[in-house]
Amino acid sequence: MPEKYTKIKKIYEGKAKKLYTLKGHRGLLLQEFKDDATAFNALKKGKIQNKGIINCELTAFIFTYLAKKGVKNHFVKQINENEMLIKQLKIVPIEVVIRNIAAGSLLKKTKFKEGHELSKPIVEFYYKDDSLGDPMISDSHALAMKIATEKDLKTLKQMAEKINSLLKPFFRKRELKLVDFKLEFGKDSTGKIMLGDEITPDTCRLWDVKTNKKLDKDRFRFDLGGVNEAYAEVRKRILGK
Ligand code: TMP
Ligand code: ASP
Repeated sequence: MPEKYTKIKKIYEGKAKKLYTLKGHRGLLLQEFKDDATAFNALKKGKIQNKGIINCELTAFIFTYLAKKGVKNHFVKQINENEMLIKQLKIVPIEVVIRNIAAGSLLKKTKFKEGHELSKPIVEFYYKDDSLGDPMISDSHALAMKIATEKDLKTLKQMAEKINSLLKPFFRKRELKLVDFKLEFGKDSTGKIMLGDEITPDTCRLWDVKTNKKLDKDRFRFDLGGVNEAYAEVRKRILGK
């Protein structure tokens, strides 16, 4: 008999996901992925066909892979097409962005042209706060706001670099270039930092290896067309369906 999970209370609703507590499962949460898509701090709103299902399946697959490679993360198991069980973490309010190829907001901070291969990955921190529009911050900002310790920041950087070194070849094998991506972390009940959130075409820039065609949320952000098809293509290349 498959185990039954009864939602008790919605404790969070973000732009792409909802979190619920569960009856009889303390320490675990149900993470539901939505088809809703937003960009530019929700100034642009829309829906992407089957995104909830695709992003749930992709996150389940990628987090399972990362766990096998020693990256502790919040994924427990997928329980429905767009729902997964996760460990409850205390989220560190820092978004960690890793860049391998120049694109997106890096083009406004540097003179790199889009597509320039960086000689070394760039790691950036953003303060996760919608009212401020998630501004980029330095280590000293994070320390001053007491949102992380020096040790936490070191761990975030090390984990982000390790995840990047695992995911670059992971995507490459599937004919995708991992241009850049965003990670979120949290602490478990013992204070240990783990990877949380999701890894999907919403949170990664993925380009076709041969043509550099964008196969990610940039198609939605910048009205490039073929949004649903891009998500379906990434699903096919990674999950084979
Ligand atoms: P950026 O170039 O706009 O700073 O984005 C860097 C990466 O982070 C890109 O892969 C998309 C991802 N990202 C998110 O996941 N959420 C966000 O809110 C933003 C702005 C970017
Ligand atoms: N998810 C973000 C928002 O709506 C931005 C993005 O992914 O571009 O603000």
